[in-house]
Amino acid sequence: MAKLIIVSNRLPVKLQEKEGKLTYKPSEGGLATGLGSIYKEGDNIWIGWPGMVVEDAEKQQQIHEDLHKESMHPVFLSEAEIKEFYEGFSNETLWPTFHYFSQYAIYDQNLWETYVEVNQKFCDEVVAQAGPEDTIWVHDYQLLLLPSMLREKLPDATIGFFLHIPFPSYEVFRLLPWRKEILEGMLGADLLGYHTYDDMRHFLSSVNRIIGHGSMHGWINTGSRSLLVDSFPMGIDYEKYATVAGSDEVKKRENIYRANFKNQKIILSIDRLDYSKGIPQRLKAFEMFLERYPEFHEKVTLVMLVVPSRDAVEKYKELKEEVDELVGRINGKYSHINWNPIQYFYRSYPLETLSAFYRMADVALVTPMRDGMNLVCKEYIASKLDQKGVLILSEMAGASKELSEALLINPNDINQLVESLHAALVMPEEEQVQHMRNMQVSLRRYNIHHWVSMFMDRLAYVKIKQLSLA
Ligand code: UDP
Ligand code: G6P
Repeated sequence: MAKLIIVSNRLPVKLQEKEGKLTYKPSEGGLATGLGSIYKEGDNIWIGWPGMVVEDAEKQQQIHEDLHKESMHPVFLSEAEIKEFYEGFSNETLWPTFHYFSQYAIYDQNLWETYVEVNQKFCDEVVAQAGPEDTIWVHDYQLLLLPSMLREKLPDATIGFFLHIPFPSYEVFRLLPWRKEILEGMLGADLLGYHTYDDMRHFLSSVNRIIGHGSMHGWINTGSRSLLVDSFPMGIDYEKYATVAGSDEVKKRENIYRANFKNQKIILSIDRLDYSKGIPQRLKAFEMFLERYPEFHEKVTLVMLVVPSRDAVEKYKELKEEVDELVGRINGKYSHINWNPIQYFYRSYPLETLSAFYRMADVALVTPMRDGMNLVCKEYIASKLDQKGVLILSEMAGASKELSEALLINPNDINQLVESLHAALVMPEEEQVQHMRNMQVSLRRYNIHHWVSMFMDRLAYVKIKQLSLA
């Protein structure tokens, strides 16, 4: 039977070893949490890295078997590959460039070569697993070369690709020394998907200016084949978040947490520790808010969850220090014996805890400098069963294109952020409910299942259309 093969660098579970025992924890990040709900359907499988270096052959075999039961297939990476492919080219070259932080990007031929090798390694694993009728769906910036590598080995295969991060404008993308090879790698797919229309347009313009292929309504003809480029804003598993938020377990947790914040409004911030998320800027805005509105002292708490991420990469280490210092400084300046303006947690939490936080938050502060989509803000909305609460959202997140009823801000405009915080905290309840209700209607409808079927239907359509274009 034909199956769907999902391929991404990170599997939806992370392997950990404690006292010689292997355990599997859910991965963080929008790709894993988003697709985590759908990959187990039918005979589908997910191919990817289990998040840890494992060199022992016996252990690798054990992991193979454990993951196989959960419809996953591991690709093991060596320590050098993690350093050069994952931390290096993926997260010190592509990630900063695609998020418009090109001043952080390093250009190193060695890292590029390992990137090519690891993409080839993924290609070999996929080819070994794929049957002729299968659909292969490649995800994200760590595997940009995989579509063409697969096309070479499996010329007739059905190959989709989705980019979960922004695609930058041509002026930024062209800075990469390997810009042409990267685009050629991507063009092996039949369908290329982006979160937003702007990302898609930026990609088409780079293809045009760097390779010279024009496009018509998203169709590109490479000379030997045609492929389609389109936008598909990713949704969440709405019912899952709404159901968990309504469970007794989560309500109980919320009551326990709430008891610590008597008569206080709660502002919530949740992200991986990443410079693209604008965490220091957010903290500075909160500090300015406390300075400008002293009447809110002891009346408001910023609950800030920061999930450890890529902590071997220099810029992430520096950011950790900056955030620690800012939190310490602001709390040192404003804390009272029974009030800390910021409650800061540096760890990851299970869904039930996140859900209790979402329920409890009067305001969600989601202010990335750049974000492909941002699912946290969508999860917040889905968890607000009483429809009370305000979302402050950066214009630079893909989600802002759909959530126009949030308080939209430019994260570089600290004054606007401070005033939006104030507006959110004093917003009348009827107004909160009205906006929340409208956003819920749209997120419930354009959920993750809708996203997957839109992409898959379009991919099937491309295969049919290619026959008539050939
Ligand atoms: N998340 C999680 N545990 C945590 C904090 C966050 O699983 O302790 C999840 C969160 O629910 C969301 C994802 O991590 O689904 C973050 O996705 P988003 O698109 O907002 O940002 P990304 O990390 O992909 O850049
Ligand atoms: C973002 C990326 C994903 C990545 C995730 C977590 O969501 O789009 O591809 O998996 O962050 O990052 P990590 O480096 O831990 O896989």
